[in-house]
Amino acid sequence: MHFISEALDDYVVKHSENEPELLQQLTRETYQKILQPRMLSGHYQGRVLSMISKLVNPKNILEIGTYTGYSALCLAEGMQKDGELHTLDVNEELFDFQRKYFDKSEYGTQIFQHLGDALEIIPKLNKTFDLVFIDADKENYPNYFNLIIDKLNVGGIILSDNVLWSGKVLEALKPDDKSTKAVLEYNTLLKEDPRIETVLLPIRDGLTISRRL
Ligand SMILES: C[S@@+](CC[C@H](N)C(=O)[O-])C[C@H]1O[C@@H](n2cnc3c(N)ncnc32)[C@H](O)[C@@H]1O
Repeated sequence: MHFISEALDDYVVKHSENEPELLQQLTRETYQKILQPRMLSGHYQGRVLSMISKLVNPKNILEIGTYTGYSALCLAEGMQKDGELHTLDVNEELFDFQRKYFDKSEYGTQIFQHLGDALEIIPKLNKTFDLVFIDADKENYPNYFNLIIDKLNVGGIILSDNVLWSGKVLEALKPDDKSTKAVLEYNTLLKEDPRIETVLLPIRDGLTISRRL
C-alpha cells in the first residue's frame, strides 16, 4: 500500500539510489519461483535499509524474517568488515534460495542463516547486536522486542517493518484480527518503553526506528 500518490512515489524512487544488479536478479527470481513475492522489501525500502545500515555501521546485525534474502543483503551493505549478519526464518523451502544469493554477494561468509521459529532461536544467540530488523509474523512483534532488547547494545537500532499495517492501525479493530491488535500494542510499547527512543517513519507500510538509550 502506498500512502502517497503514485506520481510522488515514482518521483521519490527516481531521486533515490538505483537498485543493485544482484538485487534486481533476486527480485526477478523471487517473482518467478516463490509464493507471496510482495513480501520482499524491494527497491526503495531496500535503499532506505542500506542507508540506515551505512549510517549505523553495525558490527553485528540480527534480522527476524529473511524470506528470499533481499533485506539481509541491503543491511549487509553497511556492516563492518569483520561484522556478522544473523538472519532467521522458519520456512525451510527458502533456505537454499537465500544461500545462493548470499554467496553471490560479497558478504557470503559474513551472513549466517538460522532455520526455525525466531522465538526459539533468539534466546540461543549468544551475541549482542547494533542493528536489528524485525520483519516476520506481526503477532510476535512484542515478543521479539522483549527477546532482543537486552541483546541490543547502547546506541543500537531496532527497525520494525509494517507498523502502519496497510492503514489498519486507524480502523476499528475486528475481534479476530490478531495481527492488527499486535501491531497496535507494539507501536504503543515502542513509544512508551523508557529503554528506547522511537520515531515512526511513514515509509512504505511504516518503518519505525528505535534507538537503545
Ligand atoms: C515479510 S517476510 C520477510 C521479508 C524480508 N525481510 C525482505 O524484506 O525481503 C516474513 C518472513 O518471516 C518468516 N517468519 C514468519 N514467522 C516466523 C517465525 N515465527 N520465525 C521465523 N521466521 C518467521 C516467514 O517465513 C517470511 O519468510
